[in-house]
Formats: sequence, structure tokens, C-alpha cells
Amino acid sequence: MTGSVIIGMQWGDEGKGKIVDYVSSDYDSVVRYNGGPNAGHTVYAGAKSFTFHQVPSGAFQGKELFIAPGVVIDPVIFSGEVKELKEIAGDVKLMLDYRSTVITPADRELDRRIEELKGAESVGTTLRGIGPSYSSRALRISPTVGDVIRGKFNSDIYGKLYSIDFESQSWIESSRRALEGYAGDVREALLERLERRERVLFESAQGTLLDPLYGTYPYVTSSHTTAGYAAVSSGIPSKMVNSVIGVMKAYTTRVGKGPMPTELLGVHGDAVRQKGHEYGATTGRPRRVGWVDLPLLRYSAEVNGIDEIMITKIDVLSGLKELKVAVAYRINGEEMDRVRPSAETLEAAEPVYEELEPIPEVDWKDAVKGNLPVQVRKYIDFLEDRLKTRVSTISAGPEREMTLKLG
Ligand code: IMP
Repeated sequence: MTGSVIIGMQWGDEGKGKIVDYVSSDYDSVVRYNGGPNAGHTVYAGAKSFTFHQVPSGAFQGKELFIAPGVVIDPVIFSGEVKELKEIAGDVKLMLDYRSTVITPADRELDRRIEELKGAESVGTTLRGIGPSYSSRALRISPTVGDVIRGKFNSDIYGKLYSIDFESQSWIESSRRALEGYAGDVREALLERLERRERVLFESAQGTLLDPLYGTYPYVTSSHTTAGYAAVSSGIPSKMVNSVIGVMKAYTTRVGKGPMPTELLGVHGDAVRQKGHEYGATTGRPRRVGWVDLPLLRYSAEVNGIDEIMITKIDVLSGLKELKVAVAYRINGEEMDRVRPSAETLEAAEPVYEELEPIPEVDWKDAVKGNLPVQVRKYIDFLEDRLKTRVSTISAGPEREMTLKLG
């Protein structure tokens, strides 16, 4: 039983791609288990860099890669991604599951229409058809990878239900060509490996606060982003997943709409955004930025059962004139440090901040060799103490060598 899960503790974009690449040297295979091409996990390895959308981020470590049944696949994006990746990483050992759901042109069109109809209430989705594809699966009208390979799909129902017509024959033909070389039984392959006591790393996309049940609904994505979904999505017994790594950014970011209590607006927000290059890897949208939010991180730690935390982008905080952490919320005059983060609760929440000693400008190349400034150490100790969870690793830059394992 040697499965570990990596999840995002915030609203996605925590830097899971870098962490998965870094950690995967200790694993035999890496499995992407949720979402679809809404994700963008950027990995830098030497002179190479790549943004993964559907393929797991372990490719540069030469690991066996699996896409679990619970992922939705866009065949056009998939074939482009695999082709580009092979040019950079050489041969890629990749299997996707016959059961996975295939995103159709109708799902993408529905995503666009629903966002348009919602107007001011829109979620700000990535418009990749993610929500409609998971819904079509629940409605039992979407094709699986296996269906596409067998040529078994008729798009008439989309025409009748939604007045969306697309030429299914040519779509299915090109999709079959994109997918058939990679299809297999991922559940079976993973079970065999886990029974042989190989180490399997499950990689989540997005973050806990975007989970459709446990996030800030309705401003969420449409697949589960929490650790528990790794087993469900992959079809393996949950007892085979026995450790959970939570990745958090040293501050908070969010793309798309929805409440964000610690958001920094104006010049302060701009400064962090510029310094952290906070622009979406999939859509290029500027990310909203803010201070670390402990009530939300505590909630994430509880929902996922996190064993250790890895903090990314700690370097972005150095040189800022102040360093604040939201330790609680004031809601209707009452102070609370535990919350159920519904959109309504977070909209009403006024953060209660504690100020920490700001982090000075630092030579991070030297700092990650173990020479951490005292202010960084204090920030980590503070977070460990308040979250009651060990911080095992910090990252101060996109490259592998800009990472420090703490004792
Ligand atoms: P969807 O997943 O495209 O349906 O978008 C729903 C919400 O999740 C929107 O707020 C998106 O910005 C957000 N989202 C989806 N994928 C990611 C991601 O990989 N990182 C950060 N936010 C994401």
C-alpha cells in the first residue's frame, strides 16, 4: 500500500506541477485523477519546460504515466499536448482509461452558453467544457474513450436536447486517432503495481476550494479536487492511498469569480501579481492575489487529512513591506477561526490579520541550501503551529534545485 496523493489546499495554481515533478523521483508512476484540460501544471527541468494540461506532471522524471477514469479528455488538446511533450521529453509511457469521459464539441459550446446566460453571475470557467462534460456523463449521454475507439457515438441527442449540431462522424474519427494508441485499463494496471508494492503518486488538478461539494459553490469546478477522489476516480481501494501531501502557495491566488476574503486590491495586489507572475497557465487571465488565509487552510487540512505541507513561491514574499496572515474571520461581529466556506459565509467574512515580520530581499539560491533567513523560519513555524501540520518542503523558484527539504 504505497499510494500518495498530492492536492492543492487553496483555489488551484499552488504550484502542484513543480511539486509533482520534484516528488515523483521517489515514485514509480504518476496518475492524474481529476478535471481535464482546465488545468495547467508548469514544470521546469533544466533547459526544458512544459505546461501539462491532461498528462500527469511526472513525464520529465521518465515515470509511467496514467490518466484515471475520473478525468475528462479533450482529444484535440490531448493529441497536441502529447505530440509537443514527446518533442521535448522523448518517449512518454502513458496510458489513459477506456472508461474516461470524452469532452465533445457540444460540451464546449454548452460551457460557453451557460456562462453567457449567467451574465454577471458567471463562474469564470476556463471554457474547456469541463462542467458540461461531467454533467453529460451523469446524464449518460457522453462518449467514453472506449466508445470513441469503437466508433460508437451518435451526436443526435445533443441536437435534440440543446439544438447543438456537430458532425459526429468526422469528430469521432479524429478523436479515435488521437486516443487509441494510449487506451488501456488503468484501474487494473494501478492495482497490479500497488499489489507489487510499487509507489504510485496521485496528482490532483485545481484546489480544495474549487471542489464542487466542499469548495465555494457555485464558484467551483465540476470534479472533486480533494484527496478522497483519488481512489474513487482510479477504481482502487481507498486503503491503498496512505499519505496525503498538501501544496499551498505562500500567499493566496484565485482565478475566476467568487469570494476571496484576503484579496489584495490596487497597487499592493499588482505588486504581488507581477512578482509572482500570477497569470493563468491555461487561459492567461490575471490571477487575483491575497494573503494566506488560515481558516480556509485549516478547512483544507481537515477535508483532505493532510500529513505534510509543501509551501511554494515563498520567494515572492521577500522584499514586501508587510507580511500578514488572516488568522480568523469576523462575521456579523463574531470572531471565528473555523468556517464552512460557502460563498455566502466568505462574502460576509472580514479577515482578522496577524502581522509577521516581513521577509527581506534574500539570495534564494543560497537560502535553499539551508541558509534560511530567520523571518522565513518564523513564517514556517507560525504556519505549522496554526495548522497543526508539518511543513516538509519549501520552494523558492520554478527549478528543481530551488527546493529545500526541511528536517
Ligand atoms: P472550469 O473548471 O473550467 O469549469 O472552471 C470553474 C472554476 O474553476 C473557474 O473559477 C476556473 O477559473 C477555476 N479553475 C479551473 N481549473 C483551474 C486551475 O487549474 N487552476 C485554477 N483555477 C481553475
